[in-house]
Amino acid sequence: MGKKKRRKRNETERRSSEAWIEKAQQSIWHPFTQMKEWEKEVPTIITRGEGVYLFDIEGKRYLDGVSSLWVNLHGHRKKEIDAALIDQIQRISHSTLLGLTNLPAIDLADRLLKIAPPGLTKVFYSDNGSTAVEVAIKLAFGYWQRKGGIERKKKKFISFKSAYHGDTIGAVSVGGIDLFHHAYEPLLFETVKVAPPTCYRCPLSLAYPSCGIACLEEVEKTIKRHRSELAGLIIEPLVQAAAGMLTAPPGYLKRIRELCHRYDLLMIADEVATGFGRTGKMFACEHEGVTPDLIALSKGITGGYLPLAATLAVQPIYDAYLGEYEEFKTFFHGHSYTGNPLGCAAAVANLKIFEKEKVLARIQPKIAFLKEQLDRWKQWDHVGEIRQVGLMVGIELVADKPEKTPYPPEWRVGAQVCRGAKERGVLLRPLGNVIVLMPPLSINIRELKRLLAVVGEEIQRVTSRIK
Ligand SMILES: Cc1ncc(COP(=O)(O)O)c(C=O)c1O
Repeated sequence: MGKKKRRKRNETERRSSEAWIEKAQQSIWHPFTQMKEWEKEVPTIITRGEGVYLFDIEGKRYLDGVSSLWVNLHGHRKKEIDAALIDQIQRISHSTLLGLTNLPAIDLADRLLKIAPPGLTKVFYSDNGSTAVEVAIKLAFGYWQRKGGIERKKKKFISFKSAYHGDTIGAVSVGGIDLFHHAYEPLLFETVKVAPPTCYRCPLSLAYPSCGIACLEEVEKTIKRHRSELAGLIIEPLVQAAAGMLTAPPGYLKRIRELCHRYDLLMIADEVATGFGRTGKMFACEHEGVTPDLIALSKGITGGYLPLAATLAVQPIYDAYLGEYEEFKTFFHGHSYTGNPLGCAAAVANLKIFEKEKVLARIQPKIAFLKEQLDRWKQWDHVGEIRQVGLMVGIELVADKPEKTPYPPEWRVGAQVCRGAKERGVLLRPLGNVIVLMPPLSINIRELKRLLAVVGEEIQRVTSRIK
């Protein structure tokens, strides 16, 4: 579309914005949103994006401070991904992976296996983070069932309190965020829960590194107690994202891998949030040289363009599903859009950008800059803890710093900060009292400075007002 035509289209949209706003209030039920409140608000209708910016129907520009919910990597309207999609549309937008295959799906699987932790050899596609997790859970469960004998008793999963793995029933079963998950308890399968590391409020009153990660002792004891019935363990490596960017101390993940080996359970790494460069490496598992038995990927896989997910498995899991047809060892699971060529074409273009633009090397100075700036905020009265891994940041605001007392949730401190930031052209979404910063990897230092300036000022403004 030419510039003139685009300007005209934008103008037409702007003129009809009131009608769109009215319709928006009538039709859509929004995710994770109290609709009673939403109905009273004037919705922000996004009509286009460019780089790290989003534009609403009125033409107002916003810096996309959370990468459109942790998905966007190289900015919006990234030339190479746009072109790959146009090229693929001109060939075919969708054909099934049941009984057929397609070029982008083949290309992507090959590329994923080359960059994934060594030892993962097969790719199973699905559509989003939750389904990537569902697939991993079913594959792990089915593995032991197919092995037969006494191992068929291995049916349960060990998962972490405050974990978030998605919203489908299996993913909720292994989740641990009460506010989201508790209501569905009667629908969930039974899991064994263990406490994640929470260094900021260590229940053992110890400090890293002198603690020697003592909290793992309880995890080991629990695994030991249940070992004969455990199929696998699922973990968000390095960062429990939706829990409020809770970070694990260095070495924790590696020790979890060792425990899974020692007690013979499959390790599932949910890298839906941490994958594709967010932590400063392609995958969080790489930080500790860990290969899980299954890895769940989504969000950044298409550079934030399209819903696509992949669950990667090690060879023994794949092999357990091999057999004569009449043995019915087949993995009876698949979605209509599994391996969608458009999604896979976007994902291939995404991975090519990583190579061509040396993205992982180029984000290192940005990560360092962010750390240096945020270190100064640590002295602020109501900043309890700043947790950062790569370009994933959680800033926990507290009512009382020495006591680490959280603000009451009904004060909505995080939401107030984000509301103020939005008015000033920075889009964020808090996790309770935790302000999340997760900009596209392509953000430059100038844009980072702007993001930090607005967020910092809003934190100061809100926390000083409600003291
Ligand atoms: C670690 C993790 N796993 C799974 C999911 C679920 O992904 P989706 O929202 O695409 O279903 C999320 C979403 O935030 C996530 O952070």
